[in-house]
Amino acid sequence: MTAFQIERAGPLSGTVPVQGSKNTILPILAASLINPGKTVLHNVPRIRDVENMVSLMREIGCRVIWEKRTLTIDAEKIRCGCLPKEAAVSMRSSINLLAPLLVRCGCVEMNLPGGCSLGKRPIDLHLHALERMGAAITIEDDQIHARASGFRGAEICFRFPSVGATQQALTAAAAAEGETRIMNAAREPEVVQLCCFLKEMGITVRGEGTSMIQVTGSANRKPVEFHICADRIVAATCMSAVAVCGGSAYLAGVRAPEMEGITAPFMEMGCEAVFDPSGLRISRTGTLKPISYIETKPYPGFPTDVQSLLLAVLTQADGQSVVKENVFEARFRAAYQLQKMGADIIIDNNCAMIRKSRLKGTLVEAPDLRGGAALVIAGLAAEGTTYITGCEHISRGYEDLAGMLRQLGVVGAVLTETELL
Ligand code: EPZ
Repeated sequence: MTAFQIERAGPLSGTVPVQGSKNTILPILAASLINPGKTVLHNVPRIRDVENMVSLMREIGCRVIWEKRTLTIDAEKIRCGCLPKEAAVSMRSSINLLAPLLVRCGCVEMNLPGGCSLGKRPIDLHLHALERMGAAITIEDDQIHARASGFRGAEICFRFPSVGATQQALTAAAAAEGETRIMNAAREPEVVQLCCFLKEMGITVRGEGTSMIQVTGSANRKPVEFHICADRIVAATCMSAVAVCGGSAYLAGVRAPEMEGITAPFMEMGCEAVFDPSGLRISRTGTLKPISYIETKPYPGFPTDVQSLLLAVLTQADGQSVVKENVFEARFRAAYQLQKMGADIIIDNNCAMIRKSRLKGTLVEAPDLRGGAALVIAGLAAEGTTYITGCEHISRGYEDLAGMLRQLGVVGAVLTETELL
């Protein structure tokens, strides 16, 4: 079995081109299916979730061609029917296929989605939006049975600004007859990018990035060529490495607006963040300071996807920090692995209290994608070698985390076979 082997590292230095955003490309791949013509996507990350989505799309008849990090999609011929179970349950984003397949086929049979186990992860808001636009959906034995003979514009109001449900509603609204208004919409950059993609397809979208988005659906959808922006969570991972090890790194492709909610806590810990038109320089020379209190929130708040990374960093801060998780009900699983490394972390309901800790390398297991990355970050501070199993979680969202860290000067970051342990 492959393990991520990581050694302690001193001050970092180097430049990394930050890979394309996983949570931007996945909903855009799904939405490309409502365009019966050609879609060309640039800067697509070569990660497992994208490979899974591509194989799902090919299964249903799409022609998808990779050329380095460019994907060309021809969705003219789609074989309707059931989605293969293993692909649907392998990631959360398979649920994003519901709307486009209802647009193209009128009926969908698919398994409930999988993805990181961060709590219940219901899909009621997705179904609410599609039912408001005319779909009839039932769920039996973890199977979704959905029907829709065309979508009609509607008023949709979410009780929570769900990223995925907002993206689902946008994709259906783009092909719906008439106007759709989405209230309490998610404002994340990944939602804004989907709106930009739909605009390139010829759809009228207003209000992206705010809590109220209006869409005028259209049957005239044209071919699109689109560039995927840098992954803000991968950027936050590099920032976490610099915060723990000190030194400086240049993160090419990162843009300030997408880093809203992320940069501030790193500056509070004593990092310096300087943006220029091509990227972000992140440095830390002084001591690492604690954060007395921070909580995860929907954008533009501190993102839940950076919470595990921050726990790892705060084990090295001089003092006590408190992190509250508001978005997912079970997103502290990485903390229990950090405790195995000697982290002084106390979990009380959805709050974590972290004190400065002397970490020791040992064998730990990645509980999920971002939790796995957090253990790698902790390994950069630990005495001795840390081995992290569950690399399949990490490869869902990182093209080459070990290679990226080596580009920043981390010598001891490799993948190894655990039989050697
Ligand atoms: C997206 O998940 C991201 N995944 C997640 O990133 C990210 O953590 C999350 O948004 C929040 O920013 C992708 O984009 C593929 P939500 P999503 O719907 O859409 C509840 C990563 O590591 N909810 O905004 O599933 C839900 O239970 C992943 O890259 C409902 O109650 O997130 C959660 O408590 C992890 N009903 C909250 O909303 C629904 O129908 C936020 O979920 C949908 C969601």
